[in-house]
Amino acid sequence: MYWSVFPWPYLVTTVVFVFHFTTSSFPHHHDYCVIGAGPSGLQIGYFLHQKHRDYVIFERNNVSGSFYVQYPRHRKLISINKRHTGSTNKEFNLRHDWNSLLSHDESLLFKHYSKEMFPHADTLVKYLQDFTTKLGLNVQYNTEVRDIHRPPANHSTDQNLYHMNDLNGNHYTCSKLIVATGIAEPNVPDIVPGIDYAVGYEDVSINPDDFEGQSVLVLGRGNAAFETADAIYGSTNLIHMVSRSRIRLAWETHYVGDLRAVNNGLLDTYQLKSQDAILEAGLEEIHIVKRNNKLYVEFDTDDDVDDTLLDNFALRQPYDKIIRCLGFKFDQTIFKNTTKLSMGLGRRRKYPKIGYNYESVDNPDMFFAGTNTHSLDFRKSAGGFIHGFRYTARSLHNLLEWRYHQVPWPSHTAPITQLINTIIKRLNEASGTYQMFGVLGDVIILKNNGVEFEILEEFPVNLIHKLSETTGHDASRIIVINMEYGKGFSGPGKDIFRPDRATQEPSDAHVSNFLHPVLYYYNRLPTEEDMRRATPGDVLPRPTLLHHIVEDFLALWDAPNSHILPLRRFLEGAVGKDLREVFAEICLGLALTHEALPHSCKEHFMQGQGLMPTYYLRRQVEMIQS
Ligand SMILES: Cc1cc2nc3c(=O)[nH]c(=O)nc-3n(C[C@H](O)[C@H](O)[C@H](O)COP(=O)(O)OP(=O)(O)OC[C@H]3O[C@@H](n4cnc5c(N)ncnc54)[C@H](O)[C@@H]3O)c2cc1C
Ligand SMILES: *[C@@H]1O[C@H](CO)[C@@H](O)[C@H](O)[C@H]1NC(C)=O
Ligand SMILES: *[C@@H]1O[C@H](CO)[C@@H](O)[C@H](O)[C@H]1NC(C)=O
Ligand SMILES: *[C@@H]1O[C@H](CO)[C@@H](O)[C@H](O)[C@H]1NC(C)=O
Repeated sequence: MYWSVFPWPYLVTTVVFVFHFTTSSFPHHHDYCVIGAGPSGLQIGYFLHQKHRDYVIFERNNVSGSFYVQYPRHRKLISINKRHTGSTNKEFNLRHDWNSLLSHDESLLFKHYSKEMFPHADTLVKYLQDFTTKLGLNVQYNTEVRDIHRPPANHSTDQNLYHMNDLNGNHYTCSKLIVATGIAEPNVPDIVPGIDYAVGYEDVSINPDDFEGQSVLVLGRGNAAFETADAIYGSTNLIHMVSRSRIRLAWETHYVGDLRAVNNGLLDTYQLKSQDAILEAGLEEIHIVKRNNKLYVEFDTDDDVDDTLLDNFALRQPYDKIIRCLGFKFDQTIFKNTTKLSMGLGRRRKYPKIGYNYESVDNPDMFFAGTNTHSLDFRKSAGGFIHGFRYTARSLHNLLEWRYHQVPWPSHTAPITQLINTIIKRLNEASGTYQMFGVLGDVIILKNNGVEFEILEEFPVNLIHKLSETTGHDASRIIVINMEYGKGFSGPGKDIFRPDRATQEPSDAHVSNFLHPVLYYYNRLPTEEDMRRATPGDVLPRPTLLHHIVEDFLALWDAPNSHILPLRRFLEGAVGKDLREVFAEICLGLALTHEALPHSCKEHFMQGQGLMPTYYLRRQVEMIQS
């Protein structure tokens, strides 16, 4: 039934290595070794560089971002380059800039590199090279790392280092390893007899003339498969596409890795009966044979089934070419065979198995960054793509800073009177929580019996039960702010354009379908047991209080009555204080410095009621937008 790509076997032995060295006797030692100068290796490298950590990035090729020298084959990126949003807020604009890495250098924004909505991949290679050189990142090119292993600790020196070699005979050691090698090994299913007749996506010609008047079968149904079909369907007789499962349209699933509109032209020619067609079939049921220079797909029938019953078999006509676009997997051969590395289960088997702190489950002090961490949010969020893993790399860095250097997770503390404003600002500009919805959330720690609060941005929400030990901040009462789509809204075949898809009613906020903020208040930190017991499909365990902010057409949560008033009531319940003081205080401040008091403040004073000071909020929103 399933694609027969078996988890790679790993071998565990108990070989004991004896090293007669101390750290200083290893000439090539670094505190951190990052393997791979793709976008993720560069991103984590940037943060290490900023903190003056001893690090090196090993890259086997002679340029940064070499994945994009070859891929995507037809050279059109699927990450959007929205140069205009109507806002000048830098943080907000990153919500719609999916190609830039995070840095302090404003010249390193992708909008300065391309005007195309879906830029050319060469432009990304140039960008990543500039990112490396302008920021002075320590990349060692032409260094292909192999034989990664960690000998057992030598008790007399108490050192426990990762060791590795390159192909030029150099030996390196490091205390912490960050594997940012991507997922770039083509997946070739060995269960399909004759699969060798198929040409892989990695080698397929990108010249449509090579398909002139040909009949083509494409195995696979992802973006690579559709990108390939799109490039040649004006030249071919027909294209058939086969895959086991139903087509997954990104606009139905709200997952950027599913089939994107920019690649899906063949859906038209299929549904309009213009020769091209797609079909569901398990690859384990077919084999490929070659006769008279044509390729035939044959169905593996049981012996007791009469073959003539299958005389209308969909794939009964021969093909000139078969193209395999069956995805990629993690390259495990960089490890010595004594290094155990568990892989994920099921669909996640192409990813190394890691914890929510990005650490290998088998190897302490070995971390992963980039698309190879996507097991944590596979088919959910953006962790497999630049606009997602640029944030998870930063989260990883924050975790490392506390664990190894006693630098607590960045935060700021403010009086509780600033809570509503702080939250509204984050809801309306934060990009990390917007891209990595359901994965990274802002955490508010209530302190001093609710007199003050501390905010930690973009924390991996699946680690909240370990908040204190992983960040260095004492925490008990917390509010987690998470972005979420409505339950049951996303999925292949869902009618996401139905008339009642969206609501404007604040009282129906909990049935909001489109991405919207959800706040979880816990009066004590959830335990590991609570995390385990969370209902499948829920992002977090059951909170003490839960609050949805109603979805918004503009994705702008600034409306005094629909968004802010219900938020204030929720926060008052959580904090246990009357947060109307916030507004009274602001009005008081204004009264002292301005001659004319905003109308809402007058009302506020006159009635002693917590009416929304719209003037102030408008100002707040203007501040956010500029
Ligand atoms: C066909 C295709 C198209 C895609 N298009 C997009 C897109 O448009 N936008 C987007 O955001 N994402 C896209 N992705 C997802 C893409 O995989 C990631 O965005 C990105 O390439 C992953 O970055 P990374 O840094 O994790 O890994 P990579 O970019 O793969 O970088 C890994 C680096 O490690 C190096 N390396 C590997 N092994 C070793 C070793 N042993 N020693 C030394 N160096 C080594 C490699 O040479 C490479 O430079 C696409 C994926 C595919 C398969
Ligand atoms: C540990 O390292 C020390 C110093 O390099 C060396 O003398 C000793 O033999 C090593 N012991 C083991 C068990 O590897
Ligand atoms: C990298 O190597 C390729 C292929 O060998 C070569 O064409 C290119 O000029 C090199 N680029 C750099 C920056 O060294
Ligand atoms: C590991 O690889 C080495 C060298 O290739 C080989 O001699 C050894 O048998 C392998 N060990 C295991 C457990 O496969």
